[in-house]
Amino acid sequence: MIAITSGAVGERIIAYFILILGIRDDDAQRYLKLNLPLDAATDCTLAPSVADEYQSQGLGSVLMRQLIVLSRQLGRRRMVLWGGTQATNDRAIRFYHKHGFRTVGEFQEPLGFNNYDMIMDL
Ligand SMILES: CC(C)(COP(=O)(O)OP(=O)(O)OC[C@H]1O[C@@H](n2cnc3c(N)ncnc32)[C@H](O)[C@@H]1OP(=O)(O)O)[C@@H](O)C(=O)NCCC(=O)NCCS
Repeated sequence: MIAITSGAVGERIIAYFILILGIRDDDAQRYLKLNLPLDAATDCTLAPSVADEYQSQGLGSVLMRQLIVLSRQLGRRRMVLWGGTQATNDRAIRFYHKHGFRTVGEFQEPLGFNNYDMIMDL
């Protein structure tokens, strides 16, 4: 996990990007149904988050570019989103497209929201 803090007294985490060098079971199952089998040995999984008041200022993009470089250096060939992203999350979807992800599927998650599966070649 990469975590960024505010750097001030009483500092707090303002962004974290979780990168799993591998694939979670439920993500693997869905991609299998999409005829896009994932490979835990060479694929990786991303879960990014930037605190509300720090969004849309370029912080996520800086972290994303670093993680893409790091993932390649660690021998990863593709990156998928942990649990996809909500279909209504326009900001995140635009963010992912901008960094090279493409939408490959849609599914309903347990709470009933529609999510998109997105993947990127590294
Ligand atoms: C998605 C997220 C990680 C992006 O990080 P960020 O720091 O806000 O992103 P950036 O400021 O680097 O923005 C990069 C791109 O995101 C998109 N974007 C940013 N703010 C946006 C907005 N208000 N509306 C639509 N698109 C937006 C744009 O494509 C933008 O690039 P541009 O400014 O060149 O047009 C962050 O917004 C976030 O954590 N959101 C809440 C949690 C979340 O949705 N996580 C993803 C779950 S799958």
